[in-house]
Amino acid sequence: MALYSEKVMDHFRNPRNLGVIEDADGVGEVGNAKCGDIMKIYLKIENDIIQDVKFETFGCGSAIASSSMATELIKGKPVSEALALTNKAVAEALDGLPPHKMHCSVLAEEAIQKALQDYYEKNGIPYDGCASCGQSGHTCCCGGA
Ligand code: FES
Repeated sequence: MALYSEKVMDHFRNPRNLGVIEDADGVGEVGNAKCGDIMKIYLKIENDIIQDVKFETFGCGSAIASSSMATELIKGKPVSEALALTNKAVAEALDGLPPHKMHCSVLAEEAIQKALQDYYEKNGIPYDGCASCGQSGHTCCCGGA
């Protein structure tokens, strides 16, 4: 079996929503201390809907594929759905990641959580974090399960 699924390769080679939103409503940047990879997510939110989303990822192929897929999964969706997006859902949508690459998808979940948190802070909305356990992206223990 190939190490990476067709979908991972496709999103790595042709990332969707790559770039910057200058007047973003929320921006989230996270990094993985171990591998040194960095992911940044920009959100444009109107009427509680993710109208637009872009990403910049300085990282491995799995991290790029995960960011690309994650942006596709939340684009046009309500904020609540973006909040509930888990790294597992991202990896599943990519038809799986090798076990030692699952942490790359965690970056996508965390970057989106952070961007939403930024959006909430800017708008004075209390941030309730993970839809399941109520913790913010970084401390969420249940992964939205
Ligand atoms: Fe760092 Fe993939 S190896 S995010």
